[in-house]
Amino acid sequence: MSKEYNVAILGATGAVGRRMIDQLAKSTIPIKSVKLLASSRSAGTHLKFRDQDLVVEETTPDSFNGIDLVLSSAGGSVSKKFLPEAVKRGAVCVDNTSAFRMDEDVPLVVPEVNPEALKNHHGIIANPNCSTIQMVMALEPVRRKFGLKQIIVSTYQAASGAGQAAIDELKKESQDYLDGKDMHEDAQILPTKGDKKHYPLAFNLLPQIDVLEDSGYSHEEWKMIHETKKIMLNDMNSKDIKVTATCVRVPVPIAHGESVYFTVEDESATAEDIMDVIADFPGDVLQDDIKNQIYPQPINAEGSRDTFVGRIRPDYENKGAFNMWVVSDNLLKGAAWNTVENAEYLVKMGLI
Ligand code: A2P
Repeated sequence: MSKEYNVAILGATGAVGRRMIDQLAKSTIPIKSVKLLASSRSAGTHLKFRDQDLVVEETTPDSFNGIDLVLSSAGGSVSKKFLPEAVKRGAVCVDNTSAFRMDEDVPLVVPEVNPEALKNHHGIIANPNCSTIQMVMALEPVRRKFGLKQIIVSTYQAASGAGQAAIDELKKESQDYLDGKDMHEDAQILPTKGDKKHYPLAFNLLPQIDVLEDSGYSHEEWKMIHETKKIMLNDMNSKDIKVTATCVRVPVPIAHGESVYFTVEDESATAEDIMDVIADFPGDVLQDDIKNQIYPQPINAEGSRDTFVGRIRPDYENKGAFNMWVVSDNLLKGAAWNTVENAEYLVKMGLI
């Protein structure tokens, strides 16, 4: 009989955690048991896994006794505290936070792009940042066929990237704005939880995601640059592909958009060639029919595991350069689905 796994979901009550429960329920992983973990605040909450009623437990190091696989999305400090404890007890962890992404012995994996990296794990596998995942999904087929020289990306990121509380905050601000009330009081989390100032996102744009660093870049922008290099080139500081990013929070609840400008080594590549390789790549859906006004939109991507790509066009001023527009559900391919998909690959590859 094939092995069945005892699985724990850390951060099970959050925006990503709830979707992890759902994605795990739909996955091919043979499951023996599921344990739902969160903080003491939500211990005792009842949640469903398939047709089972499960009670959320407060997380302690001993919560991981007997667990084979941990899927975690409870914030970086929680991962740093508990995942080494889980590994000590024999579990393999797929972590959706940024806690371990840049550690040399931690693979950073998008399964369609660099599955072989999973073989090098020492108990922890990191799920990349949501914006990075959808960008590398769109660009990897281009890199494989035509080579990539440079990427310039501007993101249009949904509120849910900052968790369930940020979605609630956006909704309250929107209602207050429509009711003619001041919405500044509602802003308690965005642009980023730990920072000194908070601004409303409703009817606004915030060019700050995560903290602003002395370099002038936000930490989200830093992540996009270095994670892309680690995933595509296995070296977070490689200069083989030049990457720069501007990350902006937009008043959309779910699904990020990205305007991606890129240059290729093979300058004979046409926009049609780029469309062909993207259409053939597993997990990518080409939505590019300008005559019929077909292009990716967040409201259509919500709930899908796919990455949608459109508006692919040459930069007529520069040879070998292109623009495109990429949309994906940041909570699914950008988080819960990529985490569960990594776990499916670990099982298939016999790595748990
Ligand atoms: P809780 O519901 O008990 O606060 P989101 O990203 O949507 O904000 O969700 C964060 C998730 O991380 C929630 O499930 C939250 O649980 C969980 N969490 C936060 N702090 C801790 C902690 N100290 N230990 C375990 N889980 C935590």
